[in-house]
Amino acid sequence: MGTSKKIVVLTGAGISAESGLRTFRDADGLWENEPVRIVATPEGFESDPERVITFYNKLRNSLKNVEPNAAHHALVKLEEKYGDDFLLITQNVDDLHQRAGSKRVIAMHGELLKVRCLGHGEHVMYCTENQPEKCPECGAKMRPHIVWFGEIPFEMKRIQKALTQCDLFAYIGTSGVVYPAAGFRQMAKSSGAYVVCLNLEEVDGGYTDEFIQGKAGEIVPKWVEKLS
Ligand code: OAD
Repeated sequence: MGTSKKIVVLTGAGISAESGLRTFRDADGLWENEPVRIVATPEGFESDPERVITFYNKLRNSLKNVEPNAAHHALVKLEEKYGDDFLLITQNVDDLHQRAGSKRVIAMHGELLKVRCLGHGEHVMYCTENQPEKCPECGAKMRPHIVWFGEIPFEMKRIQKALTQCDLFAYIGTSGVVYPAAGFRQMAKSSGAYVVCLNLEEVDGGYTDEFIQGKAGEIVPKWVEKLS
């Protein structure tokens, strides 16, 4: 499909795997070693904030040892070609898309390099090291700027609009089991988009016209080349 006008791409942990970041659900994934109900829910944070903060501090610090890979760079090329007709939605909380140079990107599940306070202002700030205990602006407690289970992802209205208007929707390196992102292919398909899945293994979920199997660092650049 080489004549698409509006393109929306959704990425998941698989696109960062070749950079050296662990996915969530593959063997030895993050959720195999950490209880989701503690480190990825508001209730977990309330009951054991120290454990949660330590978990995200570790993840944040691990970003220093990784670099964007060929798949991240290929999506920058696609954005350069399509401009405002391109939107990247990522479920990833790493900063590899942004570091590669993606500009039109929505980090729907938040960002590891941001923290926010629990005070009335909900001050959001950059944080590249361990998160500060208290907000430098108002003294309130701080939390990672991450969307946990039971919370609503960021920018859902903008995402919904883009999905219903796009001609091509591609989802890359995601197991497609976490909603609302897992429903994006259906939303795009029922609005008339051509839907492509690029993943290491087949994702069982329907609403997909084409499946391209392989490692993101190999298949995404080839796919982008065909579109450009
Ligand atoms: P998962 O860990 O659920 O899925 C990763 C997917 O990437 C799997 O389908 C793998 O087959 C695929 N994969 C692995 N290596 C790959 C490679 N080199 N190239 C291409 N594909 C590869 O991760 P997500 O789908 O991103 O949310 O998980 C979605 C959300 O669940 C995350 O954003 C996170 C988690 O709970 C929050 O923390 C809120």
